[in-house]
Amino acid sequence: MNSYRIATIPGDGIGVDVTTEAVKVLDAVLLGIEWTEFDWSCEQYLRTGAMMPRDGVQLLAGFDAILLGAVGFPGVPDHISLWGLLIPLRRAFGQYVNLRPVRLLPGIESALRDRRAEDLDILIVRENSEGEYSEIGGIHNLGRPEEFVLQESVFTRAGCERIIRYAFDRARERRGDLCSATKSNGLIHSMPYWDSVFDRIAAEYPDVRARQMHVDALAAEIVLHPDRLDVIVGSNLFGDILSDLAAAVTGGLGLAPSGNINPDRAAPSMFESVHGSAPDIAGQGIANPIAQILAAAMMLDHLGETKAATAIDHAVAEILAEASIRTPDLGGTNTTTELGTAIAERARKLADR
Ligand code: NAI
Ligand code: MG
Repeated sequence: MNSYRIATIPGDGIGVDVTTEAVKVLDAVLLGIEWTEFDWSCEQYLRTGAMMPRDGVQLLAGFDAILLGAVGFPGVPDHISLWGLLIPLRRAFGQYVNLRPVRLLPGIESALRDRRAEDLDILIVRENSEGEYSEIGGIHNLGRPEEFVLQESVFTRAGCERIIRYAFDRARERRGDLCSATKSNGLIHSMPYWDSVFDRIAAEYPDVRARQMHVDALAAEIVLHPDRLDVIVGSNLFGDILSDLAAAVTGGLGLAPSGNINPDRAAPSMFESVHGSAPDIAGQGIANPIAQILAAAMMLDHLGETKAATAIDHAVAEILAEASIRTPDLGGTNTTTELGTAIAERARKLADR
């Protein structure tokens, strides 16, 4: 039996509730996980002035993986919670892939009319370490009529090559179609460069159908013809926006998982739901835990525990299809704990088979 050391950072708001359920489900399918919880959060920030301790990165470095709930809460500006925890961890651990599978699960009604599960199965590969999310820039001539702000983007050759190659590898394992999000008509330096790297790497993958679309047209394609899409690769900003859109059309944020992945495995990868801390429903015990549970399944898959991960995926699909236990976001009246427990019990049975 393999054993794993996993760090959890439940964070703020519903991040805490959904992480409890994900831990419950993992313990149901796999023995031998040693959990260590870190209470880094906005609450901690208000007490200590920092989202995480100065040696936070070192504290996490030795773990096999990290399960993160969500950070962010009213009273603490979002750029502090994001740049004080999430972004430093993604960068320190070389998690240059943000992987967001977007599937319409059986029994879930899409916001798109007449779409069924088989029409919607997209993998979004988002660049996670550079691009538009850069610290380079600033406000100049503050308070004067000539006041202006600069926000630079950074696209390195190595950064573009590795994320695009990763996306081609995933497309090759799936249905063999990769669409790159561009905007070379508006962003005349960075996006033509991204496109040139994409074209060069496409030549190494003659078996994958490679194409590109402007990101605005691609957003429309997700709504109008999601069945034509398999894998999408995008820069940090484009991938972020497209994946929230795609999550919205597949049943909402309560179902959307993601992984911040270091494919070289030189440092821990970090798994989380796409959603945030949902202050509007925090403390009510009604958050949907499925996004976090599916993120935990992605973590098991990354660790090589494919059978346990598949048991969780199937348990979620079965419970959703039966439609007897659902949280309010899916039209039900059940609590976070009731849904989490039902999935844990089902996953345990499926894993034992
Ligand atoms: P949000 O994702 O927290 O909530 C958006 C809407 O979706 C809310 O109405 C919420 O109730 C609903 N929702 C989200 N997850 C749900 C779930 N599991 N079950 C049922 N309903 C759910 O996004 P919002 O409101 O923009 O951000 C709230 C805070 O979270 C902010 O401070 C933001 O910075 C932070 N945030 C953190 C993220 C992270 O830690 N990775 C990601 C996104 C936002
Ligand atoms: Mg987002």
